[in-house]
Amino acid sequence: MLWRLVPLLAAMAFLLTGCGKENLSALRPQGPVAEEQLFLMKLSLGVMIFVFLVVMVIYVYVLLRYRKRKGQDIIPEQVEGNHVLEIVWTIIPVVLLLIIAVPTVAITFNLAKDYRGHEDALHVKVTAHQYWWEFEYPDLGIRTAQELVIPAGKFIAFDVISADVNHSFWIPTLGGKIDANAGITNTFYLKADEADQLLQGRCAELCGASHALMDFKVKTLSETDFNAWVAKMTAPAPAVPASAQRGEQIFKDNCLACHAVSAQGLSVGPNLAGFASRSTIAGILDHSDENLRKWLEDPQKEKPGNKMMIQKLSNDQIDELVKYLNTLK
Ligand code: CUA
Repeated sequence: MLWRLVPLLAAMAFLLTGCGKENLSALRPQGPVAEEQLFLMKLSLGVMIFVFLVVMVIYVYVLLRYRKRKGQDIIPEQVEGNHVLEIVWTIIPVVLLLIIAVPTVAITFNLAKDYRGHEDALHVKVTAHQYWWEFEYPDLGIRTAQELVIPAGKFIAFDVISADVNHSFWIPTLGGKIDANAGITNTFYLKADEADQLLQGRCAELCGASHALMDFKVKTLSETDFNAWVAKMTAPAPAVPASAQRGEQIFKDNCLACHAVSAQGLSVGPNLAGFASRSTIAGILDHSDENLRKWLEDPQKEKPGNKMMIQKLSNDQIDELVKYLNTLK
């Protein structure tokens, strides 16, 4: 009977191999925090497997060795209490728990270190909104959204809060996660080892209709590239080309009330500075003119329950707007 389950288990194992995208899996760490967390997972999993195997071996042995045989009708000797055995099976779990507890406590305290103000750390303030992420670099005077740009090899000290309901900030390949709550600033740090990676981030707390769409990206840059990015984000905006000026006017009339286009501007909705260089639109759609049009036509369809209050625009207006938004490099 049981062997019939084998194909099912094989199919399930096969399905599981589809999980764990390189840039989205805690099992493929890209930085020291995620590496330490993975070590703790492997350690406790290893101890659990060891206990499971030992118990199963003894269990199966006893089951076979002492089972009632045909024609046998004796009651075995009844034993109660054995000091040596009882001490042994009390000490073994204590030792196993110590093996898990000592590194867990040490690493947990280490991961709770506060890197804010540390000279080798970059300070980033994360604000979670329904359903997007705002990133502010207070020391650099930059605000952006949906795409977190960080230098590789540097500690990033995060301050995480929420502007509305509870969310959770999670970059599986770098470590985490940490709650984003209104009125409480939670702090933690992460570090990426390699430059030129595009990692995925997620909201990890059920926060409403579009919780599953509350994604963001993390772009890691070399120190030089990061400094160039900072210079670009803080430089005065270049003049809008003539071909995009109609679009700019439409933007001013319809969008500017909520969306700043300069990295210094305060913004109710996602700040759009550098928008054209981002890899996604609204954190979920691949960055293309076609998807941008789709988004502008009906943002509620793409991300139900989001707070974008766009007026119905004509196709022509949307075309002009796309032209303008593409200039926000
Ligand atoms: Cu924000 Cu789930």
